[in-house]
Amino acid sequence: MIRKAKKSDIKSCLFLQKLDKGTYWKQTDLEKAIKDKDVVFLVAEDKKVIGYIIGEIPPTKRTEAAICETRVHKKERGKRIGTKLVNELCKQFFQKGVKTIYAQIEPKHLKFYRDACKFKITHKWIEVAKGD
Ligand SMILES: CC(C)(COP(=O)(O)OP(=O)(O)OC[C@H]1O[C@@H](n2cnc3c(N)ncnc32)[C@H](O)[C@@H]1OP(=O)(O)O)[C@@H](O)C(=O)NCCC(=O)NCCS
Repeated sequence: MIRKAKKSDIKSCLFLQKLDKGTYWKQTDLEKAIKDKDVVFLVAEDKKVIGYIIGEIPPTKRTEAAICETRVHKKERGKRIGTKLVNELCKQFFQKGVKTIYAQIEPKHLKFYRDACKFKITHKWIEVAKGD
């Protein structure tokens, strides 16, 4: 089942991140994500939380949204849970009036986003960054 994340899910989401040795999301980030009307934060649940997805509408361009992260428990991968999370997130953004949903991805995730989730390669950007 895919549903909106609640505050009580945060611990499980952080645990999934930790299993993958991730450190990006902190408790406070996810608490803010739940409260923010421009964020779609969903979890996949099968008795317990086994996946999550976070995406956001930027404050300026209200017809665009970006996927921040999709993550599924290591042992539950390959069962289309990630695809379901992405599809539901996209559905909810389109309902909010978003026209385009972007994701910056590593090359290894191309098969997932392009083939399974039906995203198109835009050839628009090369990622550059400054600071941490
Ligand atoms: C990427 C991720 C969310 C996919 O979740 P999932 O539930 O396993 O994905 P699905 O089962 O819906 O996959 C659908 C298709 O995409 C492919 N796919 C999924 N993850 C893939 C990966 N890491 N590399 C290559 N192909 C992948 C699958 O092979 C599958 O195709 P198939 O069933 O025809 O073989 C999951 O691997 C994950 O949590 N990875 C760690 C976190 C991460 O790096 N997230 C992506 C960045 S936002």
